[in-house]
Amino acid sequence: MNPGISRRSLGVPASPIRGLIPFAERALKAGKKVHFLNIGQPDVPTPEGYFEAVRSFREPVLAYGGSHGNPMLVQSLQRVYREELGVALAPENILVTAGGSEALWFTVMVLCDPGDELIVPEPFYANYAAICAGAGVRIVPVTTRTEDGYHLPVSDPARAVESKITPRTRGILLSHPGNPTGTVFTRQEVKLLGSIASRFGLFLVADEVYRDFTYDGRPFTSFASLEEAKEHVVVIDSVSKRYSACGARIGFIVSRSEAVMEQAMKFAQSRGCTPTLEQIGAAALYDTPSSFLEGVRREYQVRRDTLCHALETIPGVTLRKPEGAFYLSARIPVEDAHAFAVWMMEEFDLDGETVLFAPLEGFYATPGLGRNEIRLCYALEKAKLERAAQIIRAGLQEYGNRKGGLA
Ligand SMILES: Cc1ncc(COP(=O)(O)O)c(C=O)c1O
Repeated sequence: MNPGISRRSLGVPASPIRGLIPFAERALKAGKKVHFLNIGQPDVPTPEGYFEAVRSFREPVLAYGGSHGNPMLVQSLQRVYREELGVALAPENILVTAGGSEALWFTVMVLCDPGDELIVPEPFYANYAAICAGAGVRIVPVTTRTEDGYHLPVSDPARAVESKITPRTRGILLSHPGNPTGTVFTRQEVKLLGSIASRFGLFLVADEVYRDFTYDGRPFTSFASLEEAKEHVVVIDSVSKRYSACGARIGFIVSRSEAVMEQAMKFAQSRGCTPTLEQIGAAALYDTPSSFLEGVRREYQVRRDTLCHALETIPGVTLRKPEGAFYLSARIPVEDAHAFAVWMMEEFDLDGETVLFAPLEGFYATPGLGRNEIRLCYALEKAKLERAAQIIRAGLQEYGNRKGGLA
């Protein structure tokens, strides 16, 4: 008799971001060129300082580090929060994790018991669904709409959130700027959420891994700067997107709640530490001149404009120009974006090329929403984005012809 797998594990949804990879692999095997716009992997070179720091490592033993993280790296993050966000942090307010992903896992495990609830604006980063399912936590969505630029419902944002609070609510979880929407919460929205968290005794988990990418001069207000709610806020941070260093797997929990940090430390101890060399490299990343980030931000803005412009002219495609991050959510004229994505891999190519994107259904908790929406990542060269949009246009046209008209 085979041993059974846990119900918890069986209840974790597969990633809608990586789930289509096997189809893409088959398309590659069949000789197609696949443009991967499904995943947030920038093509910007990682700053050289990372590799230099790793190469200059001279210790004879690659030893364990402390569970809390490399002190140099922690100091670097303290400096960044002080200089860029005006937030004074003690070393105890920072925990180094294996990417923002581990920071999210630890945070959800620390804040919630099985059966507890987190309020999450949807569409949301799809891995929140996997982490919450793994932790037995129910996501209670606040639906945001393309028409509002995926901001909190404008008519009554406070009510939209407060009406979702139940005795099981532990907190509000959001990404800011948003993945998959690119939405950057306004200062008023940040303050409003801070005041809701304080008044109702909730945590506010702000995933700010895209903090450095806001466009058109749009200001960014970090939840970390909410002095009045400082005990309620947990910020998720990472080097992955900021420094185009996704493979370093270095992230952080940042919180001025002593209780949260104390409990998170137990999870950190249970996994030993994050990799020694990667922490040394990551500390060096924070010495990268600010011109790097300014250049990348300018470049991403051009890429965003390129992709938006190319997609807007496709009949039946609706989108709002994203305000930050490097994703774009769009409504497309099909009934089932997942089926269309599979068809793009299996049956379609434009002169031997096709495009992989992420269907948006898995980014919603409300059943049925997002079926005709997709997410595209635009952290790729302009020419590739233009070509990808051309392929999507041709794909939609042929799909419509085959299915007897688009939705
Ligand atoms: C919103 C958001 N949070 C967290 C992460 C995880 O980042 P990492 O684990 O690479 O730091 C990602 C990755 O795409 C993301 O989009």
